[in-house]
Amino acid sequence: MKILVLHGPNLNLLGHREPEIYGTITLDEINKRLEQLADELNINIECFQSNHEGILIDKLHQAANEFEAVVFNPGAFTHYSIALRDAVEAVSLPVIEVHLSNIYARENFRSRSVIAPVADGQISGFGVDSYLLGLQAAVALVKQMGAENERQGS
Ligand code: DQA
Repeated sequence: MKILVLHGPNLNLLGHREPEIYGTITLDEINKRLEQLADELNINIECFQSNHEGILIDKLHQAANEFEAVVFNPGAFTHYSIALRDAVEAVSLPVIEVHLSNIYARENFRSRSVIAPVADGQISGFGVDSYLLGLQAAVALVKQMGAENERQGS
């Protein structure tokens, strides 16, 4: 099983960026923790970060052929990118939306996610654990879908 972990804008600055909100963990450290969990779960992951909406959209389109699910932190795009929402809807892959911070406990504009209605689920507020829980949720979902397909004989 291969799962894509997609990080959106400004997440490359983790470690220095608003540590009182996001902590001091860097993106490299998050990716290492995810790799460790992937090894334990016996799956493969690719971690990819971009600050550009179009690049994230292209990566989602390509993911449809290469991956079985996506763990996605869209960063600030969460709150307004209809283009990313459409890309999530268009690729027929399970997508788990994750956020380090609790987006519902911050500024009002963050409490709306345009991605959530087209994602399979959302995990928000647990720091690096949001990603780790997201990866576990993605694996569970892919296995569940596989089992359902088998039952239906497809
Ligand atoms: C974030 C929350 C967003 O509101 C913010 O713009 C981010 C990070 C999070 O992981 O908590 O860039 O997605």
